[in-house]
Amino acid sequence: MILVTGGAGFIGSNFVLDWLRANGEAVVNLDKLTYAGNLENLASLKNNPGHVFVHGDIGDPKLVAELLTRHRPRAIVNFAAESHVDRSIHSPGSFIETNVVGSFRLLEAARGYWDALQGAQKDGFRFLHVSTDEVYGSLTPGDAAFREDNRYEPNSPYSASKAASDHLVRAYHHTYGLPVLTTNCSNNYGPYHFPEKLIPLVIVNALADKPLPVYGDGMQIRDWLYVGDHCSAIRRVLEAGRVGETYNVGGWNEKPNIEIVQTICALLDELRPRVAGGSYAQQITYVKDRPGHDRRYAIDARKIKRELGWKPAETFETGIRKTVQWYLDHGDWVQRVQSGVYREWIAAQYERAA
Ligand code: NAD
Ligand code: DAU
Repeated sequence: MILVTGGAGFIGSNFVLDWLRANGEAVVNLDKLTYAGNLENLASLKNNPGHVFVHGDIGDPKLVAELLTRHRPRAIVNFAAESHVDRSIHSPGSFIETNVVGSFRLLEAARGYWDALQGAQKDGFRFLHVSTDEVYGSLTPGDAAFREDNRYEPNSPYSASKAASDHLVRAYHHTYGLPVLTTNCSNNYGPYHFPEKLIPLVIVNALADKPLPVYGDGMQIRDWLYVGDHCSAIRRVLEAGRVGETYNVGGWNEKPNIEIVQTICALLDELRPRVAGGSYAQQITYVKDRPGHDRRYAIDARKIKRELGWKPAETFETGIRKTVQWYLDHGDWVQRVQSGVYREWIAAQYERAA
């Protein structure tokens, strides 16, 4: 089996569902259930013995050591993090706690476990750390896309905390020989995306007849990747990635924010026309920019294609249509997230499981 951390969040829950569908190997899912963790995403696994959920913190050495001894995973895939840039600007403390200190403690526990393994089990063990393209900083329009050997130049407390964790992962390989892999991925979108991030926020605000907030001039560029493609990339890196290596994962899909917002409005105009008439684009509202806002990210994903044969299956056009349709079909999920009821549901569910 494998140990997944942060598997109740956006990408983590997509990964757990995808993993069990794709290869069926059991998953122990360790998640602290912060505001971003939603066990409802995994409701379809309720009676699946291949999914063992554990409520806890990657920074709890006793708990993690106990889990490793009990379940003896062949790999750890670390998604657990504080992930929202705006929150890191307002309150950076939890980002340092989880992304830096938590990752360090998880690495320490992994090292202790791996040290005691022997033979094929030791050779086959992997620690896969899921990171972000934001560690490379910001590009100007003419710059080449981020490669794995770009300098680290993080600009927000979030990206600085992720950069710190990447450095620790690298150091645990070089110093102790821990068999690590790191993936640095661009902006994900898709089902179960918490509606504080641009794409789900725009969809749910549009449907609620609220303003669609665009920071600054809306010309900041991100490289969007459908979450299912990120999951397949992680599976591939875990399967065949070279130990100690870093792989950039991206969708070859750079777009300015305003174009993303306009595309969502056009899709909603087609799929769920406004009751009051007119286009959802009327709701677009330019607001104050994010402090220190990175202008452009772009991923050069040639290494993962060349070495591991991975490339994304979705285009932005197919992925964003699926995503908008998912939100239209899951108004109840959105409603429970927005009202906070999902947290009560989680508490009740967890008490029952304990
Ligand atoms: P998310 O915020 O949706 O989910 C994070 C999950 O981690 C939640 O379930 C939360 O409860 C859990 N968690 C937080 N602190 C924890 C702790 N101390 N111990 C255990 N669990 C804890 O994040 P996401 O968007 O799914 O991102 C997952 C990972 O992928 C993060 O490491 C993030 O940096 C990285 N990443 C995200 C994107 C993106 O576009 N969302 C892109 C590239 C990389
Ligand atoms: O690049 C990968 C990163 O992508 C991940 O590491 C992060 O965890 C993830 O949150 C994401 O970071 P961003 O800051 O790029 O994502 P966000 O959805 O918050 O914002 C996307 C862009 O849209 C960014 O330029 C800011 C802008 N924006 C965002 C919000 C929430 C707006 O214009 N208005 C908004 O209301």
